[in-house]
Order: sequence, then C-alpha cells, then structure tokens
Amino acid sequence: MKTNTHPHHPDITGEMWTRMDEIIANGKGQPGSLITVLRECQEVVGYLPSELLSHISHGLVLPTSQVFGVATFYSFFSLTPKGRHIVRVCTGTACYVKGIKEAMGRIDTTFDLKEGETTEDRRFTLEGVRCLGACGLAPVMVVDKDIYGDVTSNKVINILEKYE
Ligand code: FES
Repeated sequence: MKTNTHPHHPDITGEMWTRMDEIIANGKGQPGSLITVLRECQEVVGYLPSELLSHISHGLVLPTSQVFGVATFYSFFSLTPKGRHIVRVCTGTACYVKGIKEAMGRIDTTFDLKEGETTEDRRFTLEGVRCLGACGLAPVMVVDKDIYGDVTSNKVINILEKYE
C-alpha cells in the first residue's frame, strides 16, 4: 500500500499510524467493515480524534459524514480522550436523594471535573449513569471495576485519591 501522509496529532505516534494503516487496508472494500475499523483504531489510540476519522474515511473511501455519523452514534466509540480511571456516579433517584449531587460538587471543586468531562491530566473521566441496581448502598460510585456505597461528599475525595 502506498504510504499515506498522516495528519499530525499529539496522541498518535508513527507506530500507531502504521498499525492503523494495516487495519484500514484490511477493511478497504469490504462492506460493513467500518465498525470493525473504528473499533480497532480506537483500541490503538484509546479514542477517535477527528483527524483520525478523516483519515479513516479517506482510507476506506467512504464519505466523512458516514464515518463521523457511525462514530458518534454508538456509545462505545469516544471522540474525546478518556481518563486513566473511569468514574461512574449513579444519578438515579435513590442516589440523588442520598446526596450524589453534593459528592459530584465536591469532585468538581477538587478536580475541576463535571459529568461527561475528563480532567486535563487525564486522570479521571466522570460519567453519570442511571440506577446501578444497588440502591441500598446509595449514593453509589463505581471507579473502574470497584464499587463504592455510601459515597458522601466527605468521603468521595479520599476514595478518588487512591487512583493515580
Ligand atoms: S439509584 Fe443509584 S443505585 Fe439505584
């Protein structure tokens, strides 16, 4: 395959481009390969920057609108970088009543981090989720794979400090 010129992107190394060019070459001309290509490229970089989506649309000879459309449609694709730790706070009714908003307020004042955002240093991504089915433990927070109950605004920062 002819070497493509790659757009400059701070999160994508030369090696990553080489791997992704192989992924794109494998998917080229194969109907329905777009999702696979996006998934594999996201595994390489960690997310799908817009420069990469343009590159993929070029490589697969698909309209940019289609590539962006698919990448934004599925929730397992992310167009922004994720933190090293994914923090999920439950915003369901029981957790709301028990004070998850206050805990989220504390997270914001301490880490400058709101729902749907990632910290500048990419330590945390904060996501709000609907009832986690553990209302007895409300308010509930899940960090990576660890579940925490009774997460009051007094406790929340101590818990998060454990995750570097
Ligand atoms: S509302 Fe939070 S676990 Fe059910």
